[in-house]
Amino acid sequence: EKAKSKMSSYVLVTGGAGYIGSHTVVELIQDGFTPIVIDNCVNATRCQSGKMPESLNRVQQITGKAVTYYDFDLLDKDKLDELFKKYKFCAVMHFAGLKSVTESISKPMEYYEVNLGAIINLIECMKEQNLKKLVFSSSATVYGPPEKLPVDEQHIVGKGLTNPYGKTKFFAEEMLRDVAKADEGWNIALLRYFNPVGSHISGLIGEDPQGPPNNLMPYVSQVAIGKLPVLSVFGDDYDTPDGTGVRDFIHIVDLAQGHIAALKKLQEINGCMAFNLGTGKGYSVLEAVKAFEKASGRKVPYKIAPRRPGDLGNVYANTQLAEKFFQWKATKSLEEMCVDMWRWQSMNPNGYRPADA
Ligand code: WQD
Repeated sequence: EKAKSKMSSYVLVTGGAGYIGSHTVVELIQDGFTPIVIDNCVNATRCQSGKMPESLNRVQQITGKAVTYYDFDLLDKDKLDELFKKYKFCAVMHFAGLKSVTESISKPMEYYEVNLGAIINLIECMKEQNLKKLVFSSSATVYGPPEKLPVDEQHIVGKGLTNPYGKTKFFAEEMLRDVAKADEGWNIALLRYFNPVGSHISGLIGEDPQGPPNNLMPYVSQVAIGKLPVLSVFGDDYDTPDGTGVRDFIHIVDLAQGHIAALKKLQEINGCMAFNLGTGKGYSVLEAVKAFEKASGRKVPYKIAPRRPGDLGNVYANTQLAEKFFQWKATKSLEEMCVDMWRWQSMNPNGYRPADA
């Protein structure tokens, strides 16, 4: 009787081989859930089809538990149907998607096909299995240029979006809001990330950009280790204390734990609700560089370069809603983010690729 009444602990984690996904898979396992991961490895390292991506091998090392992994694409609806018939999932956590802001500008249709096709297939499969619990990986980018700081969830979304990547996040949110309106019984958490940085304390998993990083901290880290010669600071004429961009950096493990907190509160969400996952504190680019130099003991040479098109000056989160609703709060400091990131970088100079690659 107990077994039958016990809620299944299976959680479908799409994109679980990625930076945020893999850190969340660690926290799921350590919290007693059984993640079932699918990932097509388009942005993960050395994934011979059917073989476990290296990031998940590392997750097994950290947790001491085997991870169940399927190597297929969310656009393959038949395979996805099969998976939903095989496992009685208690919820879905959807991380999978293309995520490069710059790439999305030159390949808009690829981004719409993949990012929107994936969520459409997922919703269809979930409806067929009468599964209505979903945690969706959204992004602060849906706010566009904030009119008021700190940004809270009442802020209008979808205005002034400058790239197809950000629009796919907004369109997916809109779809989920409409699904929840049309078919009550859904419990959907839209988690809007600010700037995730850092790595698990083991140094075994971390951010592993394919090619030169678009994001600030992985770029800084590769300059510190000598893989890249100099950091370009995109503009020092913003309306911020030192003129460089201000962002709400959040430790990746705080972010992952925020997902577990959201998963556990899903049934209290009537319909679809958005939550900011940030720290509520903004740091400038130069402050982040200085923190990284202190954490790594390395110099990070930089030069001031022109602003990057589409960049915002000042963005940081109002985090009260997630704190109240999930009883979750980001606790790790910028220094811890840098120390943990540097440990990953120095232990894995080539990311998940072999050191001699
Ligand atoms: C942060 C700050 C740059 C690189 C993006 C996406 C967002 C999310 C996170 C996916 C800015 C400055 C950066 C560099 C620099 N991605 N910078 N030199 O732009 O806040 O957010 O990544 O979900 O959707 O929009 O992050 O790390 O690119 O930039 O000066 O080489 O660092 O100008 O002020 P961003 P970022």
